[in-house]
Amino acid sequence: MWFFSKSNSKAGALPFAWTPRDHATGHEPMDEDHRQLAALVTEVEAIIAARGDRNEAYRVMDLLVQTARDHFQREEAFMAEAGYGGLERHAAQHAELLATCQDLLRQFKNGTLSGLALPTFLKNWLVPHIQGCDRQFVQELRKVPGRLPLG
Ligand SMILES: [Fe+2]
Ligand SMILES: [Fe+2]
Repeated sequence: MWFFSKSNSKAGALPFAWTPRDHATGHEPMDEDHRQLAALVTEVEAIIAARGDRNEAYRVMDLLVQTARDHFQREEAFMAEAGYGGLERHAAQHAELLATCQDLLRQFKNGTLSGLALPTFLKNWLVPHIQGCDRQFVQELRKVPGRLPLG
C-alpha cells in the first residue's frame, strides 16, 4: 500500500517535535492544532518506549485520532470560509488518513499491530502534509489582505 513506502523513510525514526522552521504555516489556529498533534504523537511514543500499559497507549492513540479528526474539520471550515479551490482535494487526503488511522487503531486494539505503527504512520503522513498542502493553503490566504487570522 502507498503508505508503507513512506513509513520506511528516515523520518520514521525522528521525533515529531513541532518547530516554527519545520512546521509553522503562519496560521496560528492551525499551528496550535499541529502542536497538539505533535505532543500526542510524542506521548504515545513515550508510553510505548517505556513499555507502558497497552490500555493507556490505546487511550492516547484514540485521543490522537479524535484530535486529528477535529483538526481536519476545523481546517476544512477555514478553507470553505475562504472559498479555497483546493478544499475538495485537501479534504479527500484528510479522509484517507483518518480511515487508515481508524484501521490501525482497530488492529492495535486487537493485538495484531505494534504500538509504534500508528504514531509513526501519522507522523510520516502529517509532516509532509503540513509542509506541502497546509502551507499552500495559507499562502493562498496571504494573497487576500485581511484574510489571514494571526491568532
Ligand atoms: Fe490539512
Ligand atoms: Fe493541518
